[in-house]
Formats: sequence, structure tokens, C-alpha cells
Amino acid sequence: MEINGIKTIPNFIVFEGGDGSGTTTQLSMLSNRIKNHNQQKKIKFFSTFEPTEGHIGKIIRQALKKEISIDSKTLAMLFAADRNEHLYGLEGIICRVNKGELVICDRYVFSSLVYQGIECGDELPQILNSGFGIPELTIFLDIDPNIAIERMKERSSLEIYEYLDFQEKVREKYRNLIKIYQNQKAGILTIDASKNVEKIADQIWSVVSQMPILKV
Ligand code: TMP
Repeated sequence: MEINGIKTIPNFIVFEGGDGSGTTTQLSMLSNRIKNHNQQKKIKFFSTFEPTEGHIGKIIRQALKKEISIDSKTLAMLFAADRNEHLYGLEGIICRVNKGELVICDRYVFSSLVYQGIECGDELPQILNSGFGIPELTIFLDIDPNIAIERMKERSSLEIYEYLDFQEKVREKYRNLIKIYQNQKAGILTIDASKNVEKIADQIWSVVSQMPILKV
């Protein structure tokens, strides 16, 4: 399937949402459900995240933690470079899905369109990310930024984007983006992320378990 001339990447699931929305928790809960499901049906699956643990991802993490200062446009380019490596590098996402693996990823293109869109305008992240494929399923964890900020208060230090004003813009931008992609028939599941984590995991599983790769 193609959306605006961009191909969908089959067997590729991405979690998106503002900081504190629970993408990492839900990715790990989904991984466990797939592992259990796999006792009956052996599919290979791989869970991953962006920014990655690769060379470029490490530089990005330093900037996020305020250990080094990087211009916002340079950062947009680094996120895209890290993604390109993640997709096409050795044992990358494309290689894995082509081998029939299921890949689950914490953040992807929408994160750049949202966060870097706020930081440096829509054009640059759109250009930088225009060639990357669209996941078969994007799970958007939608949360009131006030709740997310409250959750993040337990963290020992906050990263560059983890403050209320920015997170309010993040939510608005995600919601607009989701509407546009949904109208173009992209596979998107929006979840109220203020709910109990188990309930969210159940809701996610009810959709993911229907994907062709997981059905017998
Ligand atoms: P994390 O908190 O989910 O590990 O993500 C790290 C931060 O990086 C989070 O604030 C979102 C941000 N980010 C971007 O700004 N652009 C991107 O393309 C990605 C993948 C993450």
C-alpha cells in the first residue's frame, strides 16, 4: 500500500506520543504479550527505539540531556540520519521485515515531524523524512500534558523537551498529524493514555493480535 507515493512498511509497529505518555512501558508490555503468543506460533520479533543506541543516536541523547548544545536544525538532521541507519544499516528494520520479522519501535518519523516541526518549522523535518516508509500500524498514546508532566516529576533530571509549554504544542501537533494521516488511510490507533496501563495494553493487543503476521 502507498500513501502519497510513500510505501507502507509491513510488519512494522511504532509507538508515538508526548513525553510521559508511556510509549516505553507499552512497548515492553506488547513485547511480553507477543512472547506469550509466540509459545503457540513462532514468529521472530524485534523491539527497538529511536534515538537508537548507535553512534548518531548517542550524540542525540547527549543533546537531549543538555550535555552538549546542538543547533535545532542540526538536531533535525541527526534524527533523520539516525533513522536512516536504523532502517537501512546492518540488520536494520527493512532487512528484518523483509526476512519476515515483526518489528516494534518506540518513536519514528512522527516524532521528528512533531518535535522538530515545533523547533525549526515543518519544512525541514518534512523534507528530511519524506522518503521513509510508513509503519503498518502507528499507536498514538494521547495524554493531557499536565498528567504527563506530573508523571515526569519522579525523574531525576528532565530533558530539553520535557516542560509543559512544549508538551502542549507536542500534543496539538500530534493530533493534527494523526488526522491528516488517518484521512489518507494510514493504520493509526489512538489511545487515551491517561487510562490504567493494563487496560491500555489490552486495547493495544486487541488490535495488534489481528495483524496478519500474528494470526494463525
Ligand atoms: P524518549 O524519551 O522516548 O526516549 O525520546 C527521546 C526524546 O527525543 C523525546 O523527547 C522525543 C525526542 N525525539 C525527537 O525530538 N525527534 C525524534 O525524531 C525522536 C525519535 C525523538
